[in-house]
Amino acid sequence: MRRTLVIIKPDAVMRGNAGQLISRFERKGLKIVGMKMEQLNEVKLNTHYQHLKDKPFFPELVKFMSAIPCILMVLEGKEAVSVVRRLVGTTLGREADVGSVRGDYSMSNQANLIHASENDEAAEKEIKLFFKQEELWNYELITFEWIYSSSERGK
Ligand code: PPS
Repeated sequence: MRRTLVIIKPDAVMRGNAGQLISRFERKGLKIVGMKMEQLNEVKLNTHYQHLKDKPFFPELVKFMSAIPCILMVLEGKEAVSVVRRLVGTTLGREADVGSVRGDYSMSNQANLIHASENDEAAEKEIKLFFKQEELWNYELITFEWIYSSSERGK
């Protein structure tokens, strides 16, 4: 099983969409192993978005992401990183597939409701940046064997 970081961004919190978005991950069969609310500061955002620091939109992105508290989550499941990226959809909401979060809720490339780690390496770094070890939980969902086949459960 793999873990991935999800940030429910300020636009989703402000629009009152957080509960619906969390439900989408739960109904897919992903397990919540960490969740908290935090107003992200510039230092953390500079680290998180360091690969974007030369983009013209970088200052606006940091301002947007630090405006109000976000909801941060760590989700666990088989191939969780790619599963969550598909559920979230492509960056530009106007063009994202209908049925994805961004395709259903977003008109924007900034106000696109959710950040999700791009690959396993990024997920590991991002989880370490935003969560302490003691904020992550190990437990088994009672539905586990109804979500995966026995051959999938071990991996
Ligand atoms: S890029 O430009 O290809 O690197 O963009 P992308 O990887 O698709 O997006 C990375 C994050 O930057 C946000 N973004 C923007 N914010 C503000 N203005 C503009 N024009 C813009 N373009 C992209 C986008 O929402 C991504 O945020 P995260 O948190 O990674 O989802």
